[in-house]
Amino acid sequence: DFKPLVFSGIQPTGNLHLGNYLGAIQKFVALQDTQDCIFCVVDLHALTAQLVQEDLAQQTREIAAAYLAAGIDPKRHIVFNQAAVPGHSELAWIFNCVARIGWMTRMTQFKDKAGKDRENASLGLLAYPSLMAADILLYRATHVPVGDDQKQHLELTRDIATKFNHDFSARIEAKGLGVPMAMGDETVNGYFPLAEPLIEGPATRVMSLKDGSKKMSKSDPSDLSRINLTDDDETIAKKIRKAKTDPDALPSEPAGLAGRPEADNLVGIYAALSGRSKADILTEFGGRPFSEFKPALADLAVDKLAPIAGDMRRVLSDPAEIDRTLKDGAERARALADRTLADVKSILGL
Ligand code: ADP
Ligand code: NA
Repeated sequence: DFKPLVFSGIQPTGNLHLGNYLGAIQKFVALQDTQDCIFCVVDLHALTAQLVQEDLAQQTREIAAAYLAAGIDPKRHIVFNQAAVPGHSELAWIFNCVARIGWMTRMTQFKDKAGKDRENASLGLLAYPSLMAADILLYRATHVPVGDDQKQHLELTRDIATKFNHDFSARIEAKGLGVPMAMGDETVNGYFPLAEPLIEGPATRVMSLKDGSKKMSKSDPSDLSRINLTDDDETIAKKIRKAKTDPDALPSEPAGLAGRPEADNLVGIYAALSGRSKADILTEFGGRPFSEFKPALADLAVDKLAPIAGDMRRVLSDPAEIDRTLKDGAERARALADRTLADVKSILGL
């Protein structure tokens, strides 16, 4: 009996990078051993920043291929694209009416992405967290593996769930659809769980290789700022060699990384790729210069990423098979989504 507790998604906006891998995909792979999981390609989210997309279908296949190449099992879990299950949009609309405008305008991602000309940002960009809340709560998922940048959106997801549970508590109880949940100092009959982000480990926020104050991002115009999952071995090695660092040697313990964002970032990447702690890495490399650490990091990154890139190419060579996998996942997701939507409509009186 499939009982999804874990939900997460990635936007099909190209340039899948090491931050996406360490902050999200690598964790998905680890979670699938113990939890029933839903991994989505959030194509509707991709429209929020840019309406006309180059080739959304192909970008979607690329994210799906990365999931499969990294080792996610689409038979035991659900892999699909968001637009194939209409419940995401439907529940998002209802959540637009639950959430308050002020909750949305406070989001740092909205402020960053909207920039100065905020009045001209899409309404979808503003409502993005409401769609994200719908993605998660449509399956009543309780755990969401994401990078650190998504923490605020998860708080907003809980705010939406809390307000819904409060506002409809009596009806939820009357219809026998809720479970008692502690919220603040009272107990209400809740329908939606308060989903928790899973943000752990040494690489929850991988930074740009060119600027230790910016996160590694798909949209950074400098290709040297990020390691793309599809980079070849030589490109990976070159980008690490050219990564910005300070002139000092590596410290011998993590406290010595304070105030050294570039050093901290590279050590964190090494730790996350190797499954070891930063302390352990620094015991090995402390006192040695970056000219020695960088080649070791490049070798490790190539060891970990090259097989995934190879598998991605293999998976992408059969687009029809990816489409079948996504369609199968969407059918199973839709069956779960329909149950939630039926409950929600009955609670609202729709
Ligand atoms: P991006 O932020 O690169 O456009 P998405 O918004 O699709 O990518 O994010 C996909 C997942 O990757 C999310 O869980 C997000 O938190 C994670 N993520 C994105 N960038 C980073 C990063 N630099 N470090 C760690 N995790 C990241
Ligand atoms: Na993001």
